[in-house]
Amino acid sequence: MNKQQLITEIRRIAKEKNAVILAHYYTNDDIQDIADFVGDSLALAQKAAKTDADIIVMCGVHFMGETCKILCPEKKVLVLDMNAGCSLADSCNANDLRTYKAEHPGYKVVSYVNTTAAVKALSDVVVTSSNAMKVVESYPENEKLIFGPDRNLGSYINQITGRNMLLWDGGCHVHGRFSLNALSLLKSRHPEAKVLVHPECPKDLRSFADVIGSTADLLKYAVNSDSDEFIVVTESGILHKMYEACPDKHFYPVPPSTTEEGESSTCNECSYMKLNTLEKLYDALTKEQPEITVDADIAKEALRPIEKMLSLS
Ligand code: 13P
Ligand code: SF4
Repeated sequence: MNKQQLITEIRRIAKEKNAVILAHYYTNDDIQDIADFVGDSLALAQKAAKTDADIIVMCGVHFMGETCKILCPEKKVLVLDMNAGCSLADSCNANDLRTYKAEHPGYKVVSYVNTTAAVKALSDVVVTSSNAMKVVESYPENEKLIFGPDRNLGSYINQITGRNMLLWDGGCHVHGRFSLNALSLLKSRHPEAKVLVHPECPKDLRSFADVIGSTADLLKYAVNSDSDEFIVVTESGILHKMYEACPDKHFYPVPPSTTEEGESSTCNECSYMKLNTLEKLYDALTKEQPEITVDADIAKEALRPIEKMLSLS
């Protein structure tokens, strides 16, 4: 099948099966173009919670599929590749968190949505990058909080709220490797450019930011800004929607740090997100596989903190 036939077939099968195709901003252009809805992690969860489709196809990473399944246990939730994981979610396992909680009695656990269902089940509330500040601020100032697993988002929230949350030492391999030198060089070449930074980036990169926010926040800022030049410090998939929404503006992605040999180690892409392809989308819809399942007890416990987040968003 050529690409056009593939697209036609995907649309036909999705309609026939009453399936909704959701995609994150970091997926390939083809996937974003065919999706019924493209969004950040909060918007994707909100969309899943409200859909009346029978099948949800989550083009993103595994934890996003799990969140959909927890919110919609009666629906079939498909992902395109079970290997589409997340280094950030991998940086916190449930047993370690259980031990840490036991060592810190009286603390509440605020977990980033980039976590496994088992970690969410041990949490008091879930946050995404677009609502983390609001959710944390919903707790009294003296509340003892553990924030995990992203140390960068946690330290950013501590910095702007004046809180002193205990931070889990986890991080995203993509947002942790952007080059500070490249960012500073781009800024000197384009002094008028606004700098858009995702909060999963370390503090030295955030210090350049005109805006710090989720992928949806960064896109919105670019659309509404009078500026026509932007330096983008997040996964490069977001550029697709930025150029689509602002075809006359210029976006300069910051590359990752170079290796000792001076070669770029990898590009500023999330290899997990890029596992989502049209071919796999076609296969997933046709075979109704791979399907996300979540243990019923874990799902029940994980639903509570996710619903708490949604009620505060
Ligand atoms: P958003 O909340 O901006 O979607 O970011 C989540 C993320 O890291 C996806 O990788
Ligand atoms: Fe996870 Fe980082 Fe990829 Fe986002 S960009 S899915 S946090 S590995």
